[in-house]
Parts: sequence; C-alpha cells; structure tokens
Amino acid sequence: MNLDELNKIAKKMVAPGKGLLAADESTGTIQKRFDKIGVQNTEENRRDYRELMFRAAEGMKHVSGVILFDETIRQKAKDGTPLVKLIEQAGAVPGIKVDKGTKPLATTKDTVTEGLDGLRERLVEYHQLGARFAKWRATYDPTEGRPSYNAINANAHALARYAALCQENGIVPIVEPEVLMDGDNSIETCEAVTEWVLKETFAQLYYANVALEGMVLKPNMVISGMKAEKRAGVEEVAERTVKILKRCVPSAVPGIAFLSGGQSDEEATAHLNAMNAANPNLPWALTFSYGRALQAAPQKAWSGKESNVSAAQAAFAHRAKMNGLASTGQWKKDMEKAA
Ligand code: 13P
Repeated sequence: MNLDELNKIAKKMVAPGKGLLAADESTGTIQKRFDKIGVQNTEENRRDYRELMFRAAEGMKHVSGVILFDETIRQKAKDGTPLVKLIEQAGAVPGIKVDKGTKPLATTKDTVTEGLDGLRERLVEYHQLGARFAKWRATYDPTEGRPSYNAINANAHALARYAALCQENGIVPIVEPEVLMDGDNSIETCEAVTEWVLKETFAQLYYANVALEGMVLKPNMVISGMKAEKRAGVEEVAERTVKILKRCVPSAVPGIAFLSGGQSDEEATAHLNAMNAANPNLPWALTFSYGRALQAAPQKAWSGKESNVSAAQAAFAHRAKMNGLASTGQWKKDMEKAA
C-alpha cells in the first residue's frame, strides 16, 4: 500500500471549496429519477445526462471527484471521449461504486450490503479504467427498534473488508454507513444509532488494518426522520452532527463528505454550512458527497431535451457553487435568490 499516494487523493477529494458529485445511480435508481422528468431510461439518455454534467465547466469547478456506476465508467461521450477523461480534464478525480446493493439479513428486519465476492479483481480493473477512489454503502433503518447489533456488526465488517481491499489496490475507500432518514424517528434516535454505527465501523476498520489517513467517511447527518412529527431545525442538526462526529471519528481521517439522503437541496446546503460556519477548526474537512441534492435541479431543467442542456448546466453550477461555499461556511441564504 502506498499510503502517501492514498492520502494525497483523499485530501484532493475533500479540498476546501469542493466536494463530491454522487452520479453513481444504478440503472434501477436512475429510472426513478428519469420517471419524474418523463425521460426514457436508455443507455444513450443516461450517457447524455451524465455528459452534460461532466462538461459543465462552471459546476465542475466546485467538484473534487465524481462517483460513477459500472456502466458510466466504461461509457464514451457523443464525440468518443471517455467520460472518465472529461472528469479528469475538469480537474476532478473519477471514482466508482463497487457494492452490489442491500439484501435482507437473515433472521432480522435489517439489511446487509453485498459485493465482496470478486471485489479484488474488480478493483484492479476499475483502477485500470481510471478510478482512484471507490464507494460502498451500508444502510440502517432506525425505526421500530432497528437496527440490530447483528446488522451493525455485519455491515461494519463488510465495510472494513472492502476498505482494506481498496487500499491494497491503490484506491481510496469511501466508507459509507448511512442511517436512513425516511422514517418517523426523532433526531435523538438518529443520534444514538449514528453514534453506535460509527463506533462499530471504526472498530472494524482498525481490526482490518485500514489506514485512516487513506480513506474518506461518508455519513448521514444527525437529523429527524422525514415523517417525524417535529423536525429539528438547522442549528440543532449541525450541533448534534458535529458532536457525534467528534466522539467517533479519529482526527487521522482527512475528510468527511456527507450524503444528502433525501434532504431538500437547500436544506442539505444549509446544514453543511452551519457546521462549517460554527466550527472553523475541526480536525477533518467537512464537505458534501451529494446525489439528489446536487442533481434534482439540473434533472428538472434538462427533462431530456437537447435544447435545455445549458439551462441544466446552469442549475448544476448553481447547486455546486452553493455547496462549495457551504464547505467553507461562506454560504448565505440570500445567495439562493440570485439564481
Ligand atoms: P444522496 O445524496 O442522494 O443521498 O446520494 C448520495 C449517495 O451516494 C448515497 O450512496
């Protein structure tokens, strides 16, 4: 393992003013996004849509890396340039989602993320295709007494085995343990589950000999469930999230890049900004690795029409810029109106 090289990549991924674009929706997930804008889920449409983002120079200024799906890392733009090249030309690092999704965990109501079989060989190929970081996502539903320790332990163990394999192959692992926010749980429950999950994840990373300097953590924020009766405000989300991260994440980790998890675009920006504005001297960089919160606006603006490409690129640039500012605590609500 060349830890210096991994550390350099990890630092680039969380450089101030920039964050990650999660464009790694599987074919099934992008179907859900395209259904909303009335676009057919063909390989060409998926390519055209992603190409428009990677060619959006203004937006990509605020993007340090892009997480891709297996199909996309192999795709070429309309003019034959590999999409990976477009990302590199924009100054960003190409990355790849390598997990194979969640499956029910036997005897529980929880899930476990699969994909370890053949992973070493896949990582070698992805490295050849240009990937310098990878992503593996475990999910936890924090309602009705869930998750079980069995699920937390099984997922943390898989995350650690994945992370060790990545580092062995010159790839920075994004370790993503996600406490979901779709339910009716309180912010207190999210906080307790997030703390437990992170403690177990870092224990397993230690046992698996993962070098913390060569990874990026992608957690949820500590937040109320979407269906909760009373949802906590921006300051409370920021305070509780930073408190739990301080308790659980060693300072050797270069950076933490949050998922958006179903928050509205502006909510995701406001939360990240509040954390950075109130805590200028944290041991790790705090930035974004958003999927929906970066792409909902450009998807709507595009709606599958060639004539809407510039409008979609402008919508993407706006969200990327707002989140870039939030990564250094310099975003202000009234900047949204100017768009
Ligand atoms: P969201 O920001 O839409 O939650 O997606 C980020 C991601 O990559 C989840 O794995």
